[in-house]
Amino acid sequence: MRTLRQSPLFPELSGELGIPKPVNVASVPQRSPFRYPGGKTWFVPTFRQWLGNKYSKSGVLVEPFAGGGIISLTALFENLVEKAVMVELDEEIAAVWESIVHGDAEWLANRVLTFDLTKEAVIRELKKSPNTQREKAFQTILKNRTFHGGILAEGSGFLKYGENGRDRGDRRFLFVVDYK
Ligand SMILES: C[S@@+](CC[C@H](N)C(=O)[O-])C[C@H]1O[C@@H](n2cnc3c(N)ncnc32)[C@H](O)[C@@H]1O
Repeated sequence: MRTLRQSPLFPELSGELGIPKPVNVASVPQRSPFRYPGGKTWFVPTFRQWLGNKYSKSGVLVEPFAGGGIISLTALFENLVEKAVMVELDEEIAAVWESIVHGDAEWLANRVLTFDLTKEAVIRELKKSPNTQREKAFQTILKNRTFHGGILAEGSGFLKYGENGRDRGDRRFLFVVDYK
């Protein structure tokens, strides 16, 4: 019987790298506003090498299942491609990326930095119906940064809070968006 083998995904690298190994994600610049379970951050070093070897800088990168978008962000920040197309099904996540690329990055960053992070304030904020794309984007970031594991689905529950409901020990919520 003939044995079928899947072709290597990165044949030009397979001699050097073998199967891509997960890296310590702390060694990869954290450029995404999202915390993402199952994110692609571990894949960034392999991606850089693969893209650099294979394609010219003038290309367009398409990132399906964009989520936190770390692949597109890495490619753009490091000038590995000219453009990136991020494909995302979830409307809330898409609202964040649309707001950022359509001129509301600074508004979002200010909203994050001036938000008084208490459990009560988060609950109050999330009860509101967002009237604009950027408000929806802010609510999405808020959920992603305060719900367990960054899971947006209802019922995933909050991270543990410090005294008086204030998130003292862990300021993971605070980050600066700089997409100029
Ligand atoms: C595990 S996350 C991706 C993580 C991301 N690549 C990162 O590194 O941060 C998968 C994402 O794909 C999105 N998704 C699932 N099915 C999809 C589809 N058919 N088309 C586009 N996006 C989809 C989900 O909403 C989710 O945000």
